Amino acid sequence: MTERIRAGILGTGSALPKRVLSNADLEKMVDTSDEWIVTRTGMKERRIAEPGEATSDYAAAAAERALEAAGVAAEDVDMILCATVTPDMMFPATACLVQHRIGAVKAGAYDLSAACSGFLYGLANAVSMIEAGRIRYAVVIAGDLLSRITDYTDRSTCVLFGDGAGAVVLGPVEGDRGFYAFDLGSDGGGADYLCLPAGGSRMPATAETVANKLHYLRMQGQETFKFAVRAMAASTEKVLTQSGFEKEDIDLLVPHQANIRIIDAARKRFGLDEDKVVVTVHKYGNTSASSIPIALDEAVREGRAKPGDLLVMVGFGGGLTWGATAVRL
Ligand code: ACO
Repeated sequence: MTERIRAGILGTGSALPKRVLSNADLEKMVDTSDEWIVTRTGMKERRIAEPGEATSDYAAAAAERALEAAGVAAEDVDMILCATVTPDMMFPATACLVQHRIGAVKAGAYDLSAACSGFLYGLANAVSMIEAGRIRYAVVIAGDLLSRITDYTDRSTCVLFGDGAGAVVLGPVEGDRGFYAFDLGSDGGGADYLCLPAGGSRMPATAETVANKLHYLRMQGQETFKFAVRAMAASTEKVLTQSGFEKEDIDLLVPHQANIRIIDAARKRFGLDEDKVVVTVHKYGNTSASSIPIALDEAVREGRAKPGDLLVMVGFGGGLTWGATAVRL
């Protein structure tokens, strides 16, 4: 009988722009205040890419760092997945641009669109391929430059978002390491809560759509907030039930970084101390799908996430979509 393959995380990486956009900067751009932003979101600053840069620049840098940490050569990678809603172009896939840039000569490559939940969807895809024995090494990247689709005259959204990318290298692992459970969900009935109306096949780009600012992200904040709190709790519960772990077994929760109040609601729901939850929202804002792998990479590099730790990663986003996973490092 062949032994069951279990996939796990071999290395992590991330890449962030150098330029900082602070609450004080935003106070000069729209009618807002540091006090409002900090109280309502927990955000103090976020990183913004330079003009001319694109998602693949950060995605490739994050992938290279993850490969280095994993000790896996780019030539040995079988599959590259990039979760993004801000690809360099509508097509080809940003993952293909990364494939070429990092020299992953034998890898397949594709993008995945599940908004802020995209990293979790990407993990589930790659883990299934590895555990089915079809591939050995995958690089799962989440990269977004949300600044490119943000209206910096709209105070209700422009204070929230930042740019960046995070990546992991996945491959077969031994012992009790690896992924134990996934929960993925969607509700297209909430498609209007978070969307980019124009530039797709329903409303192709025209001078009129641009004039009407329909190429910027739209969000119904309060509805999204209520959905987010529900989804984070329910999805975490599901992966704990599926994997047979208790909330006391969680060494570190790595949540999507959309709002400190949403993160705190999840933390309290599971009775976790603050040191068991990774928070980056104050310094990077909401970086969409990349917020989880960026937070994970920081936790690994700071020694907060150690080999043997049980991590729960959980997120939600446009679609609507949500997801969670339980993984032992
Ligand atoms: N500065 C000052 N005032 C503001 C700002 C701002 N930046 N933005 C909104 N306000 C005002 C509003 O106009 C409103 O004023 P009014 O009462 O006179 O009408 C007041 O502040 C309250 O606005 P609310 O929308 O009720 O504020 P709320 O407490 O809901 O916070 C927020 C808004 C931060 C957006 C919150 O709803 C939230 O975090 N929602 C979830 C967002 C989220 O998770 N997005 C995920 C995106 S995932 C992805 O796929 C990209």
